[in-house]
Amino acid sequence: MSRQDVPTVTLAALGDQPAIDLPAIGQGTWYMGENRATPEEEVRALQQGLELGLTLIDTAEMYADGGAEKIVGKALQDRRDKAFLVSKVYPWNAGRDSAISACEQSLKRLKTDHLDLYLLHWPGSVPLEETLEAFERLQEQGKIKRFGVSNFDIDDMQAFTELSGGKRCAVNQVLYHLGSRGIEHSLLPWQRQHDIPTMAYCPIAQGGNLRRELLGDPEVNAIAEELNASPAQVLLAWAIRPVDGKRDVIAIPKAVQLDHVRQNAAALSLKLDDEAIARLDAAFPAPGRKTHLDIV
Ligand SMILES: NC(=O)c1ccc[n+]([C@@H]2O[C@H](COP(=O)([O-])OP(=O)(O)OC[C@H]3O[C@@H](n4cnc5c(N)ncnc54)[C@H](OP(=O)(O)O)[C@@H]3O)[C@@H](O)[C@H]2O)c1
Repeated sequence: MSRQDVPTVTLAALGDQPAIDLPAIGQGTWYMGENRATPEEEVRALQQGLELGLTLIDTAEMYADGGAEKIVGKALQDRRDKAFLVSKVYPWNAGRDSAISACEQSLKRLKTDHLDLYLLHWPGSVPLEETLEAFERLQEQGKIKRFGVSNFDIDDMQAFTELSGGKRCAVNQVLYHLGSRGIEHSLLPWQRQHDIPTMAYCPIAQGGNLRRELLGDPEVNAIAEELNASPAQVLLAWAIRPVDGKRDVIAIPKAVQLDHVRQNAAALSLKLDDEAIARLDAAFPAPGRKTHLDIV
């Protein structure tokens, strides 16, 4: 597959930022920096992913108390321009001034002067107006290129986008995988209507409904075998499948094992046909009613 054929998701142009096409699979970093693997292994995994085209890297001040950001900083030391870098602010740090200093701390740990995308990690008690004001100031200062939110359900999205400047929300990052399809009822259609792409976290079901069963599921495994792929690759290809001809979900699996990284990158070229998608739909139907937003 040439780089031109890589499935992408477009973030709309914003101010002086041109529209950008991002590969539909990126890399997560939760649990990095916690000594589950050595820092060298984690750095190598991220760099390998970058080389294989997984150029979006998602992190947060929360992960390992900044430790994951330090790992990302090491991985990007001599190749910052190769990555689209995303980090997140704790809700209690998302005030008018506190979000500015939280971002500056993240930048220090990441050893960079800007984030490509900065997200509010989940809705909290700080008024959204304040967070938005801070995001706009950070943008003016060139410290972030775009902003967005995470773990926002439809009512939160409506509230955010109704604020002055809120329509510039670039993405909503939420839990989404084959076993956890609640967002398909109303949040995803709403985001599609408002042209706000989704970043799918836990795309290989590390958390959320059915998390322990999905990789071992007989239908997932049967389809994987038919396609000469792994069950995780089927889950990734499913998460990023185009709907009505449009692709607007970016999956961000976290992987430290190099074989996992390679599989996840190769999943960019795995296509599920209509029949495979119908079989997965039958095995794991989307709920027919609004459910609580699944979170970890
Ligand atoms: N916004 C939020 O509130 C939020 C919440 C959770 C996560 N996130 C973000 O989303 C990212 C992804 O979510 P997640 O890390 O919770 O879960 P995940 O990506 O669904 O699962 C990660 C686990 O899957 C394993 N894995 C990776 N690739 C695999 C493959 N090809 N085959 C088999 N196993 C594979 C990893 O193992 P190894 O590491 O050993 O390779 C790791 O144990 C996070 O890292 C984080 O950046 C955001």
